[in-house]
Amino acid sequence: MTLLKEKDFGTPSVKSDNEVTGYIDGIEITVPEGTSIMRAAAMVGIDIPSLCASDNIDAFGSCRLCIVDFEGRKGFGYPSSCTTPISNGMKIKTNNAHIKSLRKDLLEMYISDHPLDCNSCSADGDCDLQTQSDNHNLLKNNQLIASKYDFKDGCTHLDADMDTSNPYFNFDPEKCIVCSKCVRACNEVQGTFALSIESRGFESKIKPGVSDNFFDSECVSCGACVQACPTGSLIEKSIAEKGMPNETVLTTCAYCGVGCSFKAEVRENDVVRMVPYKEGGANNGHSCIKGRFAWGYAKHKDRVAKPMIRNNIKDDWKEVEWDEAIGFAAKRLKNIQNEYGINSIGGITSARTTNEEAYIVQKLIRTAFGNNNVDTCARVCHSPTGYGLKQTFGTSAGTQNFASVQNADVIMVIGANPTVGHPVFASQMKKRIRQGAKLIVVDPRKTDIVKSPHVKADFHLPILPGSNVPLINAFSHVAVHEDLIDHEYIKSRCDGPSFNDWIDFIKDDSNSPQAAEKPTGVDAKTIRKAARLYASGNNSAIYYGLGVTEHSQGSTMVMGMANLAMATGNVGFVGAGVNPLRGQNNVQGSCDMGSFPHELPGYRPITDDGVRSIFENKWNVKIQNEPGMRSVNMFDAAVGGKFKGIYIQGEDFLQSEPNTQHIEEAFGSMDCVVVQDLFLTETANFAHAFFPATSFLEKDGTFTNAERRINRVRPVMEPITGKHEWEITQELAASMGYEMNFKSSEEILNEIAELTPTFTGVSLKKLDEVGSIQWPCNESAPLGTPIMHVDEFVRGKGRFMITDYVPTTEIANRKFPLLLTTGRNLVQYNVGTQTRRTHNTLWSNEDVLEIHPADASTRGINNNSLVLLRSRKGETTLKAFITEKIPAGVVYTTFHNPETGANVVTTENSDWATNCPEYKVTAVEVEPASHRSKWQKNRNDDLSQIPITVNP
Ligand code: SF4
Ligand code: SF4
Ligand code: SF4
Ligand code: FES
Repeated sequence: MTLLKEKDFGTPSVKSDNEVTGYIDGIEITVPEGTSIMRAAAMVGIDIPSLCASDNIDAFGSCRLCIVDFEGRKGFGYPSSCTTPISNGMKIKTNNAHIKSLRKDLLEMYISDHPLDCNSCSADGDCDLQTQSDNHNLLKNNQLIASKYDFKDGCTHLDADMDTSNPYFNFDPEKCIVCSKCVRACNEVQGTFALSIESRGFESKIKPGVSDNFFDSECVSCGACVQACPTGSLIEKSIAEKGMPNETVLTTCAYCGVGCSFKAEVRENDVVRMVPYKEGGANNGHSCIKGRFAWGYAKHKDRVAKPMIRNNIKDDWKEVEWDEAIGFAAKRLKNIQNEYGINSIGGITSARTTNEEAYIVQKLIRTAFGNNNVDTCARVCHSPTGYGLKQTFGTSAGTQNFASVQNADVIMVIGANPTVGHPVFASQMKKRIRQGAKLIVVDPRKTDIVKSPHVKADFHLPILPGSNVPLINAFSHVAVHEDLIDHEYIKSRCDGPSFNDWIDFIKDDSNSPQAAEKPTGVDAKTIRKAARLYASGNNSAIYYGLGVTEHSQGSTMVMGMANLAMATGNVGFVGAGVNPLRGQNNVQGSCDMGSFPHELPGYRPITDDGVRSIFENKWNVKIQNEPGMRSVNMFDAAVGGKFKGIYIQGEDFLQSEPNTQHIEEAFGSMDCVVVQDLFLTETANFAHAFFPATSFLEKDGTFTNAERRINRVRPVMEPITGKHEWEITQELAASMGYEMNFKSSEEILNEIAELTPTFTGVSLKKLDEVGSIQWPCNESAPLGTPIMHVDEFVRGKGRFMITDYVPTTEIANRKFPLLLTTGRNLVQYNVGTQTRRTHNTLWSNEDVLEIHPADASTRGINNNSLVLLRSRKGETTLKAFITEKIPAGVVYTTFHNPETGANVVTTENSDWATNCPEYKVTAVEVEPASHRSKWQKNRNDDLSQIPITVNP
């Protein structure tokens, strides 16, 4: 489509029980009381000129361009329509001759201190000052004309230096009209409060934090200020490099599970900039640095465009045509099955591909491979969510839409760091907290959400890694003992016998706050107070992340949270719920698509004859009636010599799995490893066939975000590999003897919808019409289901589960006295395959070890010095970062860089129900180091990793 400009109503919408009726240029309009004249006018199609207003920030009234007149106006001045509410009977004139001339005068003043260079300005064609000047006859030959207020003495800002410090956008003060839109966008939309206006009058200027430039300030490069700027003062560098875009493609971010909708603005099939889409159900026109700016990897020179094969992983790669590569892989996989049996191979779907691509991979495995050896990366992140929520509520997904947080009164964030992991949702959450919602944060680390500008947690419970279960049990214990549970809700909505068993269990002293003191390290009084706050909130909502699931008791903890939410009546309505903040863009979707070895699409058991027969009839094959191997079982079997071949789409196990040495051994034991990815990853070092993959800019299909929202992904360019990923998978299936015959990803989605009750009626056409749909989508909810379990739980009655605390075996001892926990940072994503190939590396290009000053000092460790991190599994080195954000006794690192190999030290411990690895608890010791670890040295010596450079 041509360049899409969304309508801006000038000021935010207002909620009121009362309505008022007024007249704008003779047109009658009725709106909620408190609505601005500017918004009301926009609603009847009258766009009042403006420079400082937007409908995503509060009106400020600084530019004065929006003045209007109305009957009965008193005094000399004219009111600004953005700050003046329309009232009953008001008769407003927006555009008489006098107002027009006043506006023209105002514009001339702005122009008097503005370069007259529209034709050479990067913002030419996308500048409100230029547009308004044109509308007021102050533009000639596309140049601003000299103002009558020209400062003859040269007293202007036209010699101000440009700030080019941010790699993605420039700030040119000479084009700034000090409208403060950027400041308000940073405060109100993003919630970072990085900008201010320094000084007053002529001296006033935009200042990033206390520093002199954006890069060194608190700015997190979300780009909201750039999007808000009405001139070319704040502008993307890519616009200067590539020119103004002339086409829009609506699509979805390929990074985190928030699933932000974007307008990819394109020129000659090349993305010029990504602008968050206002109609995006998840993000409402906001984004973070990754989605808005870190997309350059799609054209990075390291991308592999041609398929490659090799007989042995020590051989050099040989580029071949697709037919040869697919034939090579198919033959090897078949040969393995002939020699070692049908179950000796398997495959992995990706949380970074589309639903359609994930669906077809599991179909390949269940048909052409003839087994159920399929798994996905959710195994190592939210599989306990799937298990725990299914047991208690009846389905494996979060209960709310993101917008629900705007109605929460008490927000409990457990084991999640949303400002870095789910930044756009964090901005929404922070907005609600600034409005007065209470906040409880459960996390060993003092994460940003604990304390940031205008946000302060009412309780921060810095529990020791591994102690979630006693904490959540203590919360429920307090709720029960202090009679803060919702008896009516429990009676009508929950399963009675399971509740009775649970009450007996939870009342026991072993679940009291006193009992939780020792394992959690948090005093009973604080636990009790925080529990009261959650249990007595009107609407209490839980948001959680991998700090909940990646434990040996991850599933127990998920059920513990569900118990608490049910007992206090906090599921099934807006503002409440139990919500996993899912990590990758399509991790929800890959699970929905039947990527687990025990479930067919829609989370239906493989062991159910009826379910199986639906797929058998459609696919015309016999499906094995027993669950296949989980990824961890595949790797164990590989080491044992029984699993020999694997097809992996978009997953870098060598970096993401715990206990790297074990994974190396597993991959080194296989005879056919097929890796389908954008770049030669760590896992590709063990591959025999490499199938180049497509980036999100080449994909056509759907992603499903953490709120179950099925979003459209539309291609901006043709696949540089010459084939879509679903075509490659389909051809591999055909080569192995199973024909699928899909002609488009649309046809795949149609099959998904036909076979999956929660996707009934979902199609690309419908998504194009309505934007997005939150499953379940069916006859009774044809446009989807924003809030789940409204009248009853999916399973009927909510089931309480017994959540005994079983301490992890991974405990600190004399040899390994510290507990390591891992996570991520804002600018890097997962194992960094994409983000390490963008300018985001300027903020972070290595993993560091956070350590408390006391632990550092007793070990003689200095800030920024090299340290050895050692566990019972292995050792690696990285730099120390001394900080009080981490409690004494705990250390923390990220896993974004293969050079660090954080997972060399993590262990084989995993969740009892799902095998989700216990990444969050590893007993370690740290000591000063003078050289790299043996593992790191071997890695550099042995592996042919292509060094990563950022595109120039
Ligand atoms: S990029 Fe985002 S965080 Fe940085 S100043 Fe602009 S609005 Fe604030
Ligand atoms: S940088 Fe842009 S948005 Fe900010 S005050 Fe200047 S003109 Fe307004
Ligand atoms: S919040 Fe997540 S989905 Fe949104 S732009 Fe950032 S990475 Fe992309
Ligand atoms: S838009 Fe109303 S004062 Fe600027």
